[in-house]
Amino acid sequence: MNKVAEIINQIIYQQFNQNVEVNLTRPRPEFGDFATNIAMVLAGKIGKKPHDIAEILKKELENNDLFDSIDIAGPGFINFKVSAKHLSEILDKEFNDRFGSNNEGEGKLAVIDYPSPNMAKPYSVGHLRPGNQGWAAKQLLEFTGWKVITDNHLGDYGTPFGIWVVGFKRFSSEEKLASRGVYELGDVYIKTKAAIKEQGEDSEIMKEAEKWLLKLEQGDEEAVAFSKMFNEISLKHIHDVMNRLKISTDYEYGEAFYAPMGKEAVQKLLDNNVAVQNEDGSIIVPLEEYGFDVPLLVQKSNGAALYATNDLATLLFREKEFAPDKVIYSVGAEQQFYFSQVFAMAKKLGIKTDLYHLWFGVIDQLNEDGTREKMSSRKGVVLMEELLDKAEEKARKVVEGRPDVTEDDIKKISLGAIKFSDFASDRRTNILFDWDNIFALTGFSGPYVQYSAVRVNNILRKERDFSVVDFKSYDFEEEKQVILHLLEFPNVVKVAARDMEPHKIAKYLYDLAREMNRYYEKTRVSDSNDIDKSARLQLLKKVSQTFQNGLNLLGIEIPDRM
Ligand code: ARG
Repeated sequence: MNKVAEIINQIIYQQFNQNVEVNLTRPRPEFGDFATNIAMVLAGKIGKKPHDIAEILKKELENNDLFDSIDIAGPGFINFKVSAKHLSEILDKEFNDRFGSNNEGEGKLAVIDYPSPNMAKPYSVGHLRPGNQGWAAKQLLEFTGWKVITDNHLGDYGTPFGIWVVGFKRFSSEEKLASRGVYELGDVYIKTKAAIKEQGEDSEIMKEAEKWLLKLEQGDEEAVAFSKMFNEISLKHIHDVMNRLKISTDYEYGEAFYAPMGKEAVQKLLDNNVAVQNEDGSIIVPLEEYGFDVPLLVQKSNGAALYATNDLATLLFREKEFAPDKVIYSVGAEQQFYFSQVFAMAKKLGIKTDLYHLWFGVIDQLNEDGTREKMSSRKGVVLMEELLDKAEEKARKVVEGRPDVTEDDIKKISLGAIKFSDFASDRRTNILFDWDNIFALTGFSGPYVQYSAVRVNNILRKERDFSVVDFKSYDFEEEKQVILHLLEFPNVVKVAARDMEPHKIAKYLYDLAREMNRYYEKTRVSDSNDIDKSARLQLLKKVSQTFQNGLNLLGIEIPDRM
């Protein structure tokens, strides 16, 4: 609900003791700024004629400085104009550097599990959305008063190690590893997996992989050295990519950290009759009473742990260590069923914490023939570093021939484009990665919004030394739409944070950019007289801050120039 609706809401409460959602529409400009059918809605509730209610409201609105003119149309529609000057005063009062923020989450703690890539392979676009969405969730929660702890739940557990050693010995060398790093490890992993698939699970190569895993567990010197070398390479790569994406986490426990706690956690399930052991020794959590026909397997018949075992241990660890109010898992839609089972298991175990799967669709690409499918390269996955390189190339094109634009700005533009496309629509839908649209300076894109922010900042920079004069007489009529839009921001933040829907912020910022374009078309800020210019610059500062606050929620930076 916007500010104007809020005020009408209060008036209605005072007059009729009713709490109703006031719906404002935008009529044709000659009728006014807003229209509402609230008199009709109220009529049913309090048994009065709509027209009589409209008359009472009209009188009340006329007493309020915010409203300029009020007309009743038809059976009880109210059309009215608001005073831009008064709107600007309301905005002035509400505004500060953290405009849009609130403290709804005060005293509450959330743990966010993200971006959680896997160690065995190079960072792929498969973990782009977990990063973007997880970061936005963190920003949104912090902006609304929550305390947030982030944990990178690395996929660093299990067989990759054994496979790496065997593969390294057969297919690779110190030199190759030194020059290609994680990409060599990734290839080794894929090649070795393929060989195992061909030769079977009880082949020599598989046995050797298992032997290495055992050696590592026993602390064998050579195995430990291998493990250290591989893990360092892989982890450094993950951190490099995360740095490029401008994301980070407070903790990085990873599956391997939790794995030793698995046995005890499973025992706890058994002790509490949450899990049962099958004849073959495997352990499952029956979840019929939670609507699942399929139980959750938490231990294999040979005693081995699974992904779910680690998640169980993780859950218990976080409860004990952090006692969070909410745990958010930023993971794709493919794991929806899995997480709903894990959450049901937690409930069965009596865990009260709000567990939330922040899920999202996959990234699609447009093929040359115009068809759409899940993003992939001929080799299988699209590497994140390649994607980032390509984005930088595209960003460089956008600012071609502009020596004043720095490398740092180019990075901000390229990342802004990629991230904004992630928030282009409801996260639950698949997103389409279309290079042309992502960088289109005229469409729903990161660069379009960034450009608009840069333009405001340019004006402010140019007018840095301008001395503001008293502008009390300024009416802000030309700025009315911009002010109205700014006043909506706090509510957009509130809704976006409540529903974990950062696309609403993206849409808001895009609309703000469009509103600003419309504004410049009819208003010349720098060429106006001192009073007008003073008033306008004060508003532009607020616009600039709002771009900054909003884009920051999406993890997008504003370049100095573009
Ligand atoms: N590494 C996993 C994957 O890439 C994601 C882990 C998500 N977090 C968790 N607690 N299961 O699929």
